[in-house]
Amino acid sequence: MTKYQDIQQQLEKNQYCWLITGVAGFIGSNLLEALLKKNQKVIGLDNFSTGYQHNLDEVRDLVGDNIWSNFKFINGDICNLGDCHKAIEGVDFVLHQAALGSVPRSIENPILTNQNNITGYLNMLVASRDARVKRFVYAASSSTYGDSPGLPKVESVIGQPLSPYAVTKYVNELYADVFSRCYGAHSIGLRYFNVFGPRQDPNGAYAAVIPQWIAALIRNQPLYINGDGETSRDFCFIENVVQANLLSALVENDESINQVYNVALNERTSLNQLYEMIRSLLIEKFPHLSKHRPEYVGFREGDVRHSQADISKANNLLGFEPTHPINDGLKYAMAWYIANVVT
Ligand SMILES: NC(=O)c1ccc[n+]([C@@H]2O[C@H](COP(=O)([O-])OP(=O)(O)OC[C@H]3O[C@@H](n4cnc5c(N)ncnc54)[C@H](O)[C@@H]3O)[C@@H](O)[C@H]2O)c1
Repeated sequence: MTKYQDIQQQLEKNQYCWLITGVAGFIGSNLLEALLKKNQKVIGLDNFSTGYQHNLDEVRDLVGDNIWSNFKFINGDICNLGDCHKAIEGVDFVLHQAALGSVPRSIENPILTNQNNITGYLNMLVASRDARVKRFVYAASSSTYGDSPGLPKVESVIGQPLSPYAVTKYVNELYADVFSRCYGAHSIGLRYFNVFGPRQDPNGAYAAVIPQWIAALIRNQPLYINGDGETSRDFCFIENVVQANLLSALVENDESINQVYNVALNERTSLNQLYEMIRSLLIEKFPHLSKHRPEYVGFREGDVRHSQADISKANNLLGFEPTHPINDGLKYAMAWYIANVVT
């Protein structure tokens, strides 16, 4: 039995209370769906800055009204300490996802990114400390590796940050560490690497590459590749991220706690390869794609050239074993986008 199967059995036997911040977003709403399906009680906090009511509605439709009654939503802002205290009452585990994502957004508006990702984060840490939660699991980021050239990325070796967003995510790790020293808090940071899957927003200037490209291909719109297309990423399907969060909340070894972990596959896919993978999965349903070609534009400021995660630490200390390789994940994601992208 894998550690994850073991944890899933534990959840079937015990009902805990979870707080998911950023619950109306992509990752938050997938965590919500997974926990409700395991009969857990969930409180969700979101201010809808980049999340959507329709993500919550979709989860309600998937789980049914009966299970949905285990969920309580609070429309609030992590930048407001009162909202954080209100949301955390009675909570065992926090899965902190609320933040302003996107490197370009942070370059355009570093103050806004700082407010949400550092002040908001600190509020959540303080509220978690005051409520003596069992564990504070938070979304860190592969952007923390910055200009470090080594591959695959190992948690202990980071470089200089390349964007305000990367600074905020690194500061999150520093604060979690200090809270463990000063207040005995128990936290785990998960450095996500390019997560993708159902409910990831395909629209807007700051959309992530996979949903943006799928939507462009379905709509037969121009598709832009930044740079020469040989930039690479370790794309990670959302189910693997859900697994990492649940393992982190429930792991019991002392040496596994107050750590940061890479969450990805230890694989590298170039943008050119990704384009061909997505196009070939869509071509049967959308024959117009036989003639589609990407347009190459300049490299994007703040982007790292290559990214690939060493996941042995998460494997050894959390029992993390990704279940979904990129192509399987893309098939699930594609089905969702085909049903949901408005043409
Ligand atoms: N998606 C990725 O590839 C990726 C990679 C690395 C790290 N992350 C991190 O994972 C987390 C979730 O990302 P996502 O892709 O689901 O993004 P998302 O934008 O879909 O979700 C973020 C959610 O947080 C909410 N939020 C933002 N600021 C808030 C505030 N002040 N108060 C309350 N709610 C607020 C938004 O409304 C949204 O629902 C973020 O912390 C992000 O930085 C994501």
